[in-house]
This record gives sequence, C-alpha cells and structure tokens, in this order.
Amino acid sequence: ATTLRGYADARGTKIGAAVADGPLRNESAYTTVLDREFNSLTAENAMKWDALEPNRGSYDWAAADRLVDRAAAHNQGVRGHTLVWHSQLPSWLKNGNFSASELNTILKKHIDTTVGRYKGRVYAWDVVNEAFDENGTMRRNSLWQEKLGTGHIANALRWAHAADPSAKLYINDYNIEADNAKSDGLYDLARQLLAQGVPLDGIGFQSHFVVGQVPSSMKANLKRFSDLGLEVSVTELDVRIPLPASSAELDQQSADYKTASENCLGVPRCAGVTVWGVTDKYSWIPGTFNGYGAALPYNGSYAAKPAYTGLSKGLDPW
Ligand code: G3I
Repeated sequence: ATTLRGYADARGTKIGAAVADGPLRNESAYTTVLDREFNSLTAENAMKWDALEPNRGSYDWAAADRLVDRAAAHNQGVRGHTLVWHSQLPSWLKNGNFSASELNTILKKHIDTTVGRYKGRVYAWDVVNEAFDENGTMRRNSLWQEKLGTGHIANALRWAHAADPSAKLYINDYNIEADNAKSDGLYDLARQLLAQGVPLDGIGFQSHFVVGQVPSSMKANLKRFSDLGLEVSVTELDVRIPLPASSAELDQQSADYKTASENCLGVPRCAGVTVWGVTDKYSWIPGTFNGYGAALPYNGSYAAKPAYTGLSKGLDPW
C-alpha cells in the first residue's frame, strides 16, 4: 500500500478527514487527495445544527447530502458530527428562550430527523460534543446542561440509537487525551451510562495538539476507556506549529502524527483516526490560535509534508 487509506484498509481501520464544503465542490486538487488518501469523511461544519436548520422548521441538507453521497461513491464511511453541542446553534434556538420541556422536544426532533435521514449511511455519530469543563464537571455554559441537566446526554444517546440502531454512538471532547481531571470526569460519566444500559459505544478524542506536546499518558488513558468495552477514536487530529514552521518543527510534527495515531491503534477497540482537515490551505487553526498554523499533513500547495509520512508510519500494518 502506498496511501493512507491503503494502510488503513489493510489494517481494517479508518483514516478520516474533516471536509470543508467549499473546496469539496470546486477544487479538484482537494478532492483528488480526499478520494485517494481517506476511507472516512467527517463534515467540518455541514452537519452542525446552524447549517442544517438555519430557520426553525426549514432544513438545508445540501452540503451534508453532498458529503454523504460523495463518500458512498468513493467507498468511504461517514462520521456524523455533531448532534448535541453548545456551539454553532442557530440563533432561533440560541435566543429562543425555550422552556426545558420545549427544548427536550426540539432536541429529540433534531436527533430523530438528522440521524433518521442518514440511517445506514453514517457509521458513527458524535452524539454529544464538548460537554465537559476543564475541571471535569459538566460544562456550565451549555444551553443543554443549563436547561436540561446531565440527563440530556442519556436521552440523546437513546434517541439516536432508536433512529439508527447500527450507528456507533460517541461522546466527543478535547483536552481529554491525557489522564487528567477532564478525562476523569468523562470516565465517570461513561461508566455510569454503561451501568444504566445507555447506548454509548465510543469516546472520541479530538486531539488538537501543539507540536511536541502529545501527552505521554495518552495511550494508557485511551486504554482505560477501551477497558470499559468502549470504542476509542481519534476524531480531530491536528498538530499546530508557531509560524513560520522550521524544518525541525516539521520533523517533530511528523513524529507527533505517528505517536498520536499509534496511541490509538495500539489500544484494543480503536476504530480509527480522523485528521481535522487535509491541507494547511484550509484549517481552523490560524483563525483561532494567533501565530499558529501548518497543522495538517499537506501544505497549502497539496505537497505531502513530513507529517504525512509520520501518519502513514503510524497506520502501517506491517
Ligand atoms: O457560516 C458562515 C458563512 O455563512 C460565512 O460566509 C463564513 C465567513 O467567515 O463564516 C461561516 O461560519 C464559519 C463556519 O466555520 C463555517 O465556515 C464560522 O465563522 C467559523 O467560526 C466556523 O468555524 C468552525 C468551528 O468549528 C466553529 O466552532 C471551524 O470551521 C471548524 O473547524 C471547527 O470545528 C470544531 C469541531 O466542530 C469541534 N471541535 C473543535 C473544532 C475546532 O474548533
């Protein structure tokens, strides 16, 4: 095998990429890499609530359908992202001042509608995204947590399971890759949900790293979740570098991609690794972390960086 997906297929795992709808529609250099290198796709934004239902009751499925159809045509799986999140909510919902019972109905309808539409075509859903604060308690600045309490998580998982019993259902978060207060909080919740028979299948570790800072406890931390019988996945991997990136930093980034992917694939029940983008041309990093960038395996001209080689070594089954 000479591609990322060739390695992943040979190993029976997934290598995914987050996909931006713009270049998906009109940039052949982008789609060429996507089709050749990845066997799983995640919509970077197109399946978020603000994109799907910008006005109450009026849905826009165009971009999400485009991604799901394209994945089917290229023999790629789809990770659905994301159903319950405090961010990227449409303003009618954010500012609607709904009661708890109204919100419960609205959330159930969103999950029924969205999961139902893609039933059988999405192999895993990030049902709940970023529900924790850094200290391991439930996130306080979330509409869902505030109005519905922690019970909304079990309800969302049950509704999603009813809408597509074959999809793997995930809780996804960032800064949970290390063994720390936040991952401890999630671990406790996961154990409780499983004990209550709630259909939780996996934990998504976003893995937005800084060059040279893949946590040393990452593999052991993923393993404790997999020891609960859960799948683990790296769902949003990128490794940001202070700009301009030196060649030493690009080499360290390569090592980081290798380590991060091995940390997942070396654990039982790792379902795969997804990178949060393809090319440095399109990445959320420079817009969010001032002075940082160069976080992805391809540079802005679609040349494979050392990070590409590191990632392929991490995936290599032989
Ligand atoms: O929708 C508008 C569009 O109408 C307008 O033309 C455009 C002009 O800037 O902005 C568009 O919205 C942007 C949206 O991406 C779609 O492109 C938002 O401003 C921008 O903030 C948004 O950023 C996304 C971010 O989530 C929002 O929270 C990033 O692309 C996306 O990579 C990022 O992804 C998240 C994961 O979902 C969850 N984990 C963290 C990760 C990184 O933040």
